[in-house]
Amino acid sequence: MLALRSTADLLTWRTSLAAGTTIAFVPTMGYLHDGHLSLLREARARAGAGKVVLSIFVNPTQFGPNEDLDRYPRDEAGDFAKAQASGTDVVFCPTTPEELYPSRSTWVTVDDLDQHLCGRSRPGHFRGVCTVVCKLLMLVRPDVSLFGQKDFQQLAILRHMHADLFLPGEIVGMPIVREPDGLALSSRNANLSAAARQQALAISSFLAQVRERFSAGVRDVATLLGDTASALAPGKIDYVEVVDALRLAPVNLIERPALCAVAAFFGGVRLIDNTLLTP
Ligand code: PAF
Repeated sequence: MLALRSTADLLTWRTSLAAGTTIAFVPTMGYLHDGHLSLLREARARAGAGKVVLSIFVNPTQFGPNEDLDRYPRDEAGDFAKAQASGTDVVFCPTTPEELYPSRSTWVTVDDLDQHLCGRSRPGHFRGVCTVVCKLLMLVRPDVSLFGQKDFQQLAILRHMHADLFLPGEIVGMPIVREPDGLALSSRNANLSAAARQQALAISSFLAQVRERFSAGVRDVATLLGDTASALAPGKIDYVEVVDALRLAPVNLIERPALCAVAAFFGGVRLIDNTLLTP
């Protein structure tokens, strides 16, 4: 496995590849868990005899001033070992943010879709995500890029950016990976205390209840959600919403595919999760 630390090295490597070499790309912020590894395995399968590229970069521009950039978990040696075991060919792991941000004056934004869910509580977050993913796609020029559906809004916004800017390759969304007890995998789970981790199971239990009510025929959103504060207690709710799965705008009645999305703090750690509700 090759580790590349600069954009110049990445471009040199990319240019050296024979035309027609398939590239499957998995962009991450590191601290790899089984969710990331499922993306890498799918990337390996899709790349065939080609190359799997993983990027590890804790992107500062997608964190707000009072968010957890400084506390975001990091483990480069562990990530490299997991990446290698999952069949990664190249890890792009820039030494400094300046590698990807020679200046901080060029930005990519996707309007509308960022007005909902995480976009409302994390102003500027998706501008940071779009900007860094756009840069990475231009550098790696992959045939396929893989993202997890836990970040459903991120995936929807990136699909729009990708189509609007004619960026290379195909964007593929992959299912949420959960612990056996239901907790959605996230690098941020590493920051949960044992007690907060136990309490955080309220999120997946709540989503399971929502799915049950939906399967029983409930379509009215207020009835579907019930008493969210007690269902997610003692978590501090950022939002619990049912939105149209395409436009991400809130709905009161489910008539088309919808998404029930949750963001809540447990022990000071912000977790997100979601479930699709398809009539
Ligand atoms: O989902 C993530 O890990 C990040 O938002 C991403 C897509 C790697 C951009 O920094």
